[in-house]
Amino acid sequence: MDKVAVITGVSSGLGMQEADLFRKSGFKVVGVSRSKPNLGIDHWIQADITVPEERDKIIDYVENECGRVDLLINNAGRGSYALWEELSEEELRSLFELNFFALVDLTMKFLPMLKESKGTIINVSSVLGKIHIACMGGYCCSKYAVVAFSDSLRPEVKKYGINVINIMPGRIDTGFSQNCVGQRKPPSTPMVNAKPRGLAKVMYKAYCRGSRQKFYPWVYGPFVSLSRIIPNFLDKINRKAWKID
Ligand SMILES: NC(=O)c1ccc[n+]([C@@H]2O[C@H](COP(=O)([O-])OP(=O)(O)OC[C@H]3O[C@@H](n4cnc5c(N)ncnc54)[C@H](OP(=O)(O)O)[C@@H]3O)[C@@H](O)[C@H]2O)c1
Repeated sequence: MDKVAVITGVSSGLGMQEADLFRKSGFKVVGVSRSKPNLGIDHWIQADITVPEERDKIIDYVENECGRVDLLINNAGRGSYALWEELSEEELRSLFELNFFALVDLTMKFLPMLKESKGTIINVSSVLGKIHIACMGGYCCSKYAVVAFSDSLRPEVKKYGINVINIMPGRIDTGFSQNCVGQRKPPSTPMVNAKPRGLAKVMYKAYCRGSRQKFYPWVYGPFVSLSRIIPNFLDKINRKAWKID
């Protein structure tokens, strides 16, 4: 029987590449997004994952049509380019609804099926779930929360044979920047040439190896460690790059 992967946010960017690669690797892929993806996919569910009833619809569909889940990839997400002073409470809550609460709820609702398959949960957080930067504070908080969720869930579900992988992309060339809310313009970064396909390959390798976490590109790993040693330097780069002094 084919293994089943459920992937959120398949209509563009990273999710589209993840869906394509896992499908080519033998998974039956169930994709979720609000707009229709322009790719070959086994099942597509049109759903806004911030709406609780639509999340229930996803679970029902997968239970009835596929009968199993071996892999859940919580990929859908959105950013925000704004100073804290510019970020409304409404916008902050809506970031958390999508990036954190929807992800947690889908994970918990898929857990019974994942227990049966001894499956894998892959959460797409961000390098910004490990380091803070200015003008993306709300987004950083939502992704720190995803990292904490992944790392605290992993030991709890190990006894069921479930692994939780935390994927932390740096800046990758997708529609992410255009879809960010907020007025600020992001500075250019040296790693901007990173490609969605590369991320999908790193994710697939992490799945096969049963890893805990992966940065993409890898260079963000040492960068995160370095930024812990010299936090004032990171603050200085932030102020300069975002022109906020
Ligand atoms: N690209 C980067 O530089 C980067 C860096 C670090 C982390 N990430 C993370 O990687 C993930 C994917 O981002 P991306 O770069 O591929 O961005 P993207 O091109 O903007 O894709 C976002 C995907 O999420 C879906 N989505 C958004 N809101 C949704 C909702 N309410 N319900 C269902 N689906 C929804 C979108 O589909 P619809 O609009 O059709 O619903 C789209 O397929 C995100 O979690 C992001 O935070 C990206």
